[in-house]
Amino acid sequence: MSSYLLVTGGAGYIGSHTLVELIAAGYQPVVLDNLSNGSRDALRRVEELTGTSIPLIQGDIRTPGLVETVLAIYRRDKRPIECVLHLAGVKAVGESVSDPLKYFDNNVAGTVALLMAMRAGGVQRLVFSSSATVYGVPRFLPFTEQHPLAPTNPYGRTKLFVEQILQDVCAADASFSVVTLRYFNPIGAHPSGMIGENPRDTPNNLFPYITQVAVGQQPFLKVFGVDYPTEDGTGVRDYLHVMDLAVGHVRAVDYASSHTGFIAINLGTGKGTSVMELVQTFERVSGQAIPVRIEPRRPGDVDKVWADASLAREVLRWRTTLGVESMCQDGWRWQQRNPQGYGVTAPAPAS
Ligand code: WQD
Repeated sequence: MSSYLLVTGGAGYIGSHTLVELIAAGYQPVVLDNLSNGSRDALRRVEELTGTSIPLIQGDIRTPGLVETVLAIYRRDKRPIECVLHLAGVKAVGESVSDPLKYFDNNVAGTVALLMAMRAGGVQRLVFSSSATVYGVPRFLPFTEQHPLAPTNPYGRTKLFVEQILQDVCAADASFSVVTLRYFNPIGAHPSGMIGENPRDTPNNLFPYITQVAVGQQPFLKVFGVDYPTEDGTGVRDYLHVMDLAVGHVRAVDYASSHTGFIAINLGTGKGTSVMELVQTFERVSGQAIPVRIEPRRPGDVDKVWADASLAREVLRWRTTLGVESMCQDGWRWQQRNPQGYGVTAPAPAS
């Protein structure tokens, strides 16, 4: 019988792609999502892609009693939740600077509420969505998991604080198992073109902005800084295909089911790609010209970042398999077929 998993934020970009790989691996995901950034349509399409129905609880992890009730119902129905994948959270660096309390409430208080409900419900395995932003300004590169943790913005601090809370919970309860995944820069989409990144507003991140320029939703791409100490002067990041990232979550669930204690693992390719390299690859792959306008550096950006992904290889037997061309091909197919993203999420029925 396959294991039931609770996926918070499962209707979002990373969540929806992760559901596809969880189901392919034989897991039964149940989604809890407040749909503030996720989409019912995304879940419907994942159901179509996988031929599997996915229960959706539309709600917030901070709602008193909600997660406890979900865990109790699945336990009573002899389908106990074996592991929680916690992907729900807010993630815009700039917004975290202007509205830090929204970030500490959602990301930190929300995770504490989830952990309390898990303890009450006897669920002792967690895969947590963290971010390479916890490392802050590189003291050395590539980032290994031993790099000092010194985030430079409230969003990154929420991820670090949650990691520290999780370490304390594991220190207090030897039977608890936590795998924290430090994502580098996930981009691209499922190769079917049916699901992909669906920013609510104007994208802050590079890749969804490029695809919006390609479909004519944006007139040009602003390149934030061409005076970095990199080969072409533009910022370098470790972009990984969202489908590779999704498989990383499956390996993390497998690992959490056979280990206890806390572990933090980088998920990246181990290679850096500059802004202009990504733009040029996208142009070549899509046949779409991406007009650019050079702008000053964006405050808070670092020159270059890429992962040392050897721990993921060793511990999770995971490595990326898809390159930047595939990320561009799949991201372009999604955007081309869904220029407006998903359908508007139908308002929740009056309760
Ligand atoms: C990448 C590069 C920009 C937009 C952030 C968060 C991180 C994670 C991923 C949540 C940089 C340049 C960007 C644009 C540009 N989010 N750029 N024009 O900043 O590495 O990481 O998103 O987990 O936590 O910090 O990603 O895509 O914003 O920027 O030139 O319109 O693209 O300067 O060099 P970043 P990004």
